[in-house]
Order: sequence, then C-alpha cells, then structure tokens
Amino acid sequence: MIKASSSRRNFIATSAIAAGGLFVHPSLAHIIQRNEKIKIVLVGTGIRGNDFWGKRLMDEYGDIIEFVGLCDINEGRLAFGKEYIGTDCKTFLDFDEMMANTKPDLLIVTTVDSTHDEFIIKGLDLNIAVFSEKPMTTDEKKCQNILDAERRSEKEIIIGFNYRYNPHYTKLKELLSTNRVGKITSVDFHWYLNVYHGASYFRRWHGYKDKGGSLLVHKATHHFDLLNWWLDSDPVEVKAYGELEHYGKNNSFRGDNCRSCEHKDSCKFYWDITTSSFLTKLYTDNEKYDGYVRDSCVWREDIDIYDKMSAQIKYANGVMVNYSLTTYSPYEGMRIAFNGFDGRIDAWDGIPWRSDEKRIQSSLHEQEMSQNDEEQDFEEIFVADNFGEYEQVKVLRERAGHGGGDKRLQDKIFVDPKAADPLKHSAGSRDGAMSILIGIAARKSIEENRVVRIEELTDLKPSATRS
Ligand SMILES: NC(=O)c1ccc[n+]([C@@H]2O[C@H](COP(=O)([O-])OP(=O)(O)OC[C@H]3O[C@@H](n4cnc5c(N)ncnc54)[C@H](O)[C@@H]3O)[C@@H](O)[C@H]2O)c1
Repeated sequence: MIKASSSRRNFIATSAIAAGGLFVHPSLAHIIQRNEKIKIVLVGTGIRGNDFWGKRLMDEYGDIIEFVGLCDINEGRLAFGKEYIGTDCKTFLDFDEMMANTKPDLLIVTTVDSTHDEFIIKGLDLNIAVFSEKPMTTDEKKCQNILDAERRSEKEIIIGFNYRYNPHYTKLKELLSTNRVGKITSVDFHWYLNVYHGASYFRRWHGYKDKGGSLLVHKATHHFDLLNWWLDSDPVEVKAYGELEHYGKNNSFRGDNCRSCEHKDSCKFYWDITTSSFLTKLYTDNEKYDGYVRDSCVWREDIDIYDKMSAQIKYANGVMVNYSLTTYSPYEGMRIAFNGFDGRIDAWDGIPWRSDEKRIQSSLHEQEMSQNDEEQDFEEIFVADNFGEYEQVKVLRERAGHGGGDKRLQDKIFVDPKAADPLKHSAGSRDGAMSILIGIAARKSIEENRVVRIEELTDLKPSATRS
C-alpha cells in the first residue's frame, strides 16, 4: 500500500534542497529532484528492521523510497523479511557483497547492537548516508572508530532517537527550554520495566554485555539521550552501581527455552512464542540456520548483564542526576523530576494510580512496538512554583510506536527534512556518542568501582551547552 503522494515528493524536493546542510537530505533531495526513488539497503532483518524500517517505510513512503538490498546472516529470516516488507529487491548473506552490488543512497543498520559499528563505518567509508538504530554502538573504542569514520566521510550518520519525538517528552523539553522553573540544578529519573518487557531482555542476546553492552547501554541510551537533550548539556562524570540478583543464575530451576521447558506450569516467566505467528515465522522457524533462540530461558546461568542499576551523573552545566533502571517491576513506567531555582517539574508515565484505569501489563510492550495509532487520556506533567501555585500540564497520550515517537522520527527524515527544528529533535553522531558514553562509563564504574570521566573514553570534550 502506497500512501505518500506526489505532492509530498515535490514538497520534499524543494524543502530538502533548500535545507542545505541537513543530515542525509542534501544527497537525498537531489535524487528526489531527479524524480527518482531513494535507494535503501538494510542490514539486520529482525523485528525492528522488518517491521519499522522495512514494512512501515514501504507502506508510508513507498512513492519516494525503494529497497535495493536486504542483508542478514540468517537466510530464513532474510527470506521472511523480503516477503513481509513487500519488496522484490535482492537479498544478501554478505554485507560487502550487498554494498558492491547495489548503489544505495541510504544504509539502514538494524542488527545486534555490538555489530552496528562495522556496518556504519563501512557505509560511511563508501560515502553512503547511514541511519543506525540506537545504541550507536556498545563500547568506547567502537564509538571512537565511528566518530573518526564520519570525520573522513562525505556523509553523515543519524541515530534513531525516537523517544525525543514522543509528545510527552517534547512538552518537557518545551517547558525546560523556556526556563519554566528557572535554572535546573538536579534531576531524579527512574525507569521501570515490567516483568514482561523487562524479562524480554533476558531471553536473548540483550542478556550479554558483549552483544548489547548491558541495559545501561542498550536500553538506557534512550534515557541518557533524553537527559542530554532536555538539559542541553553534556555529561562529565558518572558513578554507578549494578547487580544481577533476580534473573540469570538466581533461580533454583531453568530450561533451554520456554517451548521445551519442563517447568512451564510453575515458572511465572513462561512465555509461549508460538501464540504469535509473526514471531514464529521470524524467529523459531529460522533457529536451524544460526541457533538464535528468541524464547531462551531467563534463568540462563551465563547471563551477565545487571538487572538493577543506578547511576549518578554530573553534567558540564552543574546539574546532578540520580538515575535508576528496574527490570522486574509490576508495571511499566517512569518518573522524573527537574528541580529548579524557581520550582519543580514532575512528570510520570505508566504509574497505574487512577482507580478507573486498567492496563494490561503483559501487552504494553507489544502495543509500544506496534505502529497502530491510538490516542487517549493524558500524560501527566505537574509544575510547581516555589512560594506559588501548582499547574497541571496535559498532553495526549499515544501508546503505539514508542509513544508516537516512531512515526514522527520517520516523517522528520523522509517527509519534512526542512521543517524548523527549534527544539533540536534531530540527532547525529555526537548525540549518539554522548548517550552511550554515559552507559559505558556507568558499566566501567561498576566494574572498576570508581568515578569515570566522560572525556577518558573518546576524544569528545563535554560542553556546558550543547547548542
Ligand atoms: N529505537 C527503538 O526503540 C528500538 C526498538 C527495538 C529495537 N531497536 C534496535 O534495533 C536493532 C535490532 O533489534 P531487534 O529487536 O530487531 O533484534 P533482532 O534480534 O530481532 O534482529 C537483529 C537481526 O540482526 C541480524 N544480525 C546479527 N548480526 C548480524 C551481522 N553480523 N550481519 C547481518 N545481520 C546480523 C540477526 O540475524 C537478526 O535478524 C538493535 O540495535 C536494537 O537496539 C531499537
């Protein structure tokens, strides 16, 4: 189904060319101007690649983009991806072969986190614009290599920070940008993954530091990017604590995976992947090619990431942040408070405090990952002035597509690149780096029991004001 219109094509062409120095748009704009489609290759035909960066792009922007190559190391998932996305492009098991045999304008990277650097760097060295899913990468050496590659390339990288585009978080940015409660001095930020979504990270590659960099990188890159963006400053120092004391080896029984497990009836974390035909076709039908088991046991003894984490972060503008991440909460949500000289902004999401509001915790993450729009209710933001009044700020809640962030991010890239960006939603390599560097510093701080300075990690120098 093609929804984008030719007027959109014209709009993009004129606005993107006028935009001059924006991310991939100058190069893409000329293609659009020539009335050609933007040629895209994608590496990593897993759930994020196939669904959000594959099928959704075809459905929403099919008149201005075309896939010219798909790559994955799993031939079954690759074949399924081609069919699911609805493209007739070539497929490749080898990335270099794909790049040699296609002439893409844009490379989209949606592989396992620890492999992003290889594809980003190769793409940039071929002077191809690159979009990478978060986290940009998983350690400081790979991060430096990516920064170096971008410096020598004619093209740039954009990072998928969809959370910035969520209207709730955008409203917070607006309030902070207008100094609503004066100079911000400290922040309390706590994120809760429920027992369904939280557990999902322990079922597969995310459970290993060498694949996802731990949840301080894989998941918290979203949260740290939001902090950097909200505070408009760079982090300088991190001290963190983390333990694995619930999942992994911390249970008396375990199995290979949920399907074959003899503890199905007694394990609260039993998850039947076969109830989803999509996940069955994507993962279980293709285990035979690479041994990637999507419903592995959350009690595997070799899981080495933390399941509870906390970090203190000091910013170049003097702000102190207390952050924590929990992975076995009864509900999914977050709380944040910005303390300013003139008052305090509190915001929260997902805390089931209204007696008339019932949420099905087991399907919340599925809803967040889906791209079916649904608007309802209000997100909570509460502003209190010192010696003054209280104000409740209402923002419509969207659950699908990461709180509405997903579609806004893609529109920014493909529909309206010239649109004014007063709140600086667009993110590049420095944003990608600064967010993972907090997580990498936190991991290092836990492992070495010390305060880690951000400037030890790469050649980026933290700055008090990012703009
Ligand atoms: N922005 C968001 O909110 C969001 C949401 C979900 C996932 N993601 C990101 O998207 C990426 C993919 O996540 P996913 O959940 O789809 O994972 P997934 O495991 O479903 O898919 C990863 C795919 O990469 C393939 N792959 C692994 N190594 C490869 C290699 N060397 N060459 C080619 N292919 C390789 C795997 O076979 C698999 O098909 C991750 O980086 C993740 O952090 C971002």
